[in-house]
Order: sequence, then C-alpha cells, then structure tokens
Amino acid sequence: MPAPTFTQDWFSRSIPGWQFLLSRMIQKTPHLRVLEVGVFEGRSTCWLLENFCKTPESTIVAVDTFQGGVEHQSMELGGLMKQFEDNIASFGSSAKVDVRAGTSLDQLCRLIAENTPQFDFISVDASHQAADVLGDAVLAFQLLKPGGVMAFDDYIWSPMRPGTENPLLLPKVAIDAFTTIYSQKLRILPNLPLYQLYIQKH
Ligand SMILES: C[S@@+](CC[C@H](N)C(=O)[O-])C[C@H]1O[C@@H](n2cnc3c(N)ncnc32)[C@H](O)[C@@H]1O
Repeated sequence: MPAPTFTQDWFSRSIPGWQFLLSRMIQKTPHLRVLEVGVFEGRSTCWLLENFCKTPESTIVAVDTFQGGVEHQSMELGGLMKQFEDNIASFGSSAKVDVRAGTSLDQLCRLIAENTPQFDFISVDASHQAADVLGDAVLAFQLLKPGGVMAFDDYIWSPMRPGTENPLLLPKVAIDAFTTIYSQKLRILPNLPLYQLYIQKH
C-alpha cells in the first residue's frame, strides 16, 4: 500500500489537545466512536486510526462535501474524496471508517434520523461560516454521548486582517452563541490550547 499523501496540515496544532483528551477517554472506552465533521484529505482521520481507533470495534464516521469550503476556492479539489479514501486505505486499518459525502447539515440530520449510536468524540471542522457552524454544533450535540467531548476547530481563526472581519464568516460567534445557549448542558474544558475550543456534554 502507498503511504498517505497530504498537501495541507491543518491538524498537527490540534494533536496536543486531542492526545490529552483521547488518552484519558480510551482508558474507560477502549473502542471509540468518533464523528469527524470536515475531514479534507484525512490527516486527522489517519492520526486517529494510527493512535486511538486501532480496534475493529472502533468507528469513525467521516462527513465532508469533499468540495472544500469557501476559503478553499483557489484550490484544485476534484480528486479530494478519492484522496481521502486512498489515504484511509493506505493504513489497512481494521477500524470501520464510514464516509458520508454531503453537506454537514444534511448528513448530521441523516445520522440523527438513523438513530446512530452516540459518539465519544466529535470534531467540528467543516464550513467556517457562522450559520453553518451553529447548525453543526446543535446537530452534532444530539449525537454526542453524555460525558463525550466535542472539539471546535479554528475557534479564533480569521483569514482577514484583524479588525476588518465579518464575524458571520467566522466560527467564533457561532461557537460562543452555542456554548452560551447550551451552558446548562455542557462545560467548556479548561487549560487546553485555545485555538480549538473543547466542550464536554453533561
Ligand atoms: C479545514 S478542512 C478539514 C480539515 C481536517 N479536519 C484535517 O484535519 O485535515 C474543512 C473541510 O470541510 C469541508 N466542508 C466545507 N463546508 C462543508 C459543509 N457545509 N459540509 C460538509 N463539509 C464541508 C471541506 O470540503 C473541507 O474538506
């Protein structure tokens, strides 16, 4: 099998936080159920397969349009889904990777309607438009186990010059609205690198 190939690395900065949380989680739950909303070339999925989803009973559900977000319009992404699948295949992992191609709002609604078992860990890293992030947060929260953890990537991301951003094009306003409205149902996990925001469901 050829080695996985990646053109971007938007994940390595999250490894310390994920490593810390998942290594504690796996002590109680050896066969993790993970939902990744936004997988791109599969860098984070491959890391999960290599480190925390190694058993045949582990599951990763991977949701992506495989068309990139609005911030990726200058990139040539015609073969993105095949690249993701080839990267996953290159691991020859026995864990189940269930690929759901489509918009996150559609696919999360579908998972809820299917009564999919809830997840131990959810990563929200798809569209960065606030309205989409808010929808992803609300729907993904329904799919999170009590005690489960949800990671929001790019909490403080901004592609524009500071002071000129439209907050509705960024995740932060949506994540803040979600954590405020759901404050009695979750806690924000402290002392983790702030580029991502991590919450735990009560
Ligand atoms: C920043 S990348 C994800 C990076 C990935 N988590 C990693 O670690 O490499 C965002 C991904 O979200 C996908 N995406 C953008 N908008 C989406 C939407 N509305 N629904 C589903 N996926 C979307 C893009 O195709 C892209 O692959």
